Amino acid sequence: MAKKLFIKTYGCQMNVYDSGRMADVLAPLGYAPVDSAADADMVILNTCHIREKAAEKVYSELGRLRPVKSAKEAEGGRMVIAVAGCVAQAEGAEVLRRAPYVDIVLGPQTYHRLPEMVARAHRAGAAVGSVGKTGDPAGRGVLETDFPVESKFDHLPEAAAPQGLSAFLSVQEGCDKFCTFCVVPYTRGAEFSRPVADIEAEARRLVAAGAREITLLGQNVNAYHGAAPRSTGGAPAEWGLGRLIGHLAEIDGLVRIRYTTSHPRDVDEELIEAHGAVPALMPFLHLPVQSGSDRILAAMNRRHGADDYRRIVDRLRDRRADLALSSDFIVGFPGETEAEFAATLRLVEEVGYAQAFSFKYSARPGTPAAAMPGQVPDPVKSERLERLQDLLHRQQTAFNEATVGRVLPVLFDRHGRHPGQLVGRSPYLQGVHVAAPDELLGAVADVAIDAVHTNSLGGAIAAGAALRPREGGG
Ligand code: SAH
Ligand code: SF4
Ligand code: F3S
Repeated sequence: MAKKLFIKTYGCQMNVYDSGRMADVLAPLGYAPVDSAADADMVILNTCHIREKAAEKVYSELGRLRPVKSAKEAEGGRMVIAVAGCVAQAEGAEVLRRAPYVDIVLGPQTYHRLPEMVARAHRAGAAVGSVGKTGDPAGRGVLETDFPVESKFDHLPEAAAPQGLSAFLSVQEGCDKFCTFCVVPYTRGAEFSRPVADIEAEARRLVAAGAREITLLGQNVNAYHGAAPRSTGGAPAEWGLGRLIGHLAEIDGLVRIRYTTSHPRDVDEELIEAHGAVPALMPFLHLPVQSGSDRILAAMNRRHGADDYRRIVDRLRDRRADLALSSDFIVGFPGETEAEFAATLRLVEEVGYAQAFSFKYSARPGTPAAAMPGQVPDPVKSERLERLQDLLHRQQTAFNEATVGRVLPVLFDRHGRHPGQLVGRSPYLQGVHVAAPDELLGAVADVAIDAVHTNSLGGAIAAGAALRPREGGG
């Protein structure tokens, strides 16, 4: 009988991708994914350390798991609890101290070693009736948070479980930028790009398994500089992201390409060019700016000014007039004055966002900004966040309303709540509800948008729509 594996994922899309790969690694050991921790043989929390709240969630979840594990053990069963991801990397020993019933703590670069860790946890469990004994100085669970010299990508199984119509593909990991507020360079380690040939092979497998859309992932995805395929003769030894996208767009059946998350510093001419030249590259770009104040941007070590960002946006929109943007913002960075915050509002007004994420600055232990003078009081942060979110929300509503009357290609990925209805995504990731025949599931069709609902759009298959039914292996 299959063993039950429950994985709970926090944080960014990299973690979503990693959770899928952990399931792949454990599949040969007989673990099959389930959607609840109750009665699971193994539970993995794939964690995020980006803000304090994100990290604290993990400890509450572990608190809830404890009685579930005890109940299972009282019946003679066993539940292995693993904490993976960025909290594991940043404070693994602390996890074992606060939650000694955790069996395995593993960092993001070691999950190809999971089978061996599970075996060790089981051996230790059988011997002592409780949890493992290796790695941690206090003598508790298995702790694996080094950055191994071998790449995990070379040790993962090839036959990944299908991800459906819309798949994630990790092309780049880690970050060398060291923004002063951010934990990622510490939790994910140095920047690393996978070779083009590996990425292409994985993309082809995903498409053969039914994917029509692939989102290329990296903590700093446009810093991508992977080894070129062997057959390219005189071409450069390393490719940038723009060139990689152009290459992947040639895969039959792959109709949509996206990438996230990019850094303004690494937007080069080739990438801007790709936005004009590659129809499969969706005209929706997440390009975080964090702040509109040059002084704050410098203190954040973002290494660009607000005007550099404006120029990049202009160049992108020159190539692709229908490009829409999303971004991340931090309010209340140490020392931020009201005038500096106002510069952020001004930048938002000028750029115009279709969607955005905004956060109160959260001091992260060990990062330079946490020790900076002028920490902003929480009520001030809350008040600024509210004003920023109000503006961003108005822009999002205006963007959605402006799609009424437009014809947008929609990739249909599921049935709607009503019979005869399909739901899909616009190029801007808006959900679109349409009365459409089942054959369009998995296909792209032009939709005349005629309604804006709270969280989605409505429309009708456009008259004379060029239907692009399933191509390739699906
Ligand atoms: N690599 C991406 C960001 C990854 S983290 C980039 O460079 O843009 C996702 C977002 O979380 C960041 O863009 C930032 O807005 C936010 N964030 C990161 N650290 C934070 C902190 N200490 N406090 C508040 N928000 C933070
Ligand atoms: Fe963090 Fe900056 Fe790297 Fe983004 S670019 S992951 S914000 S250090
Ligand atoms: Fe969080 Fe780690 Fe992603 S800190 S945002 S899970 S890289």
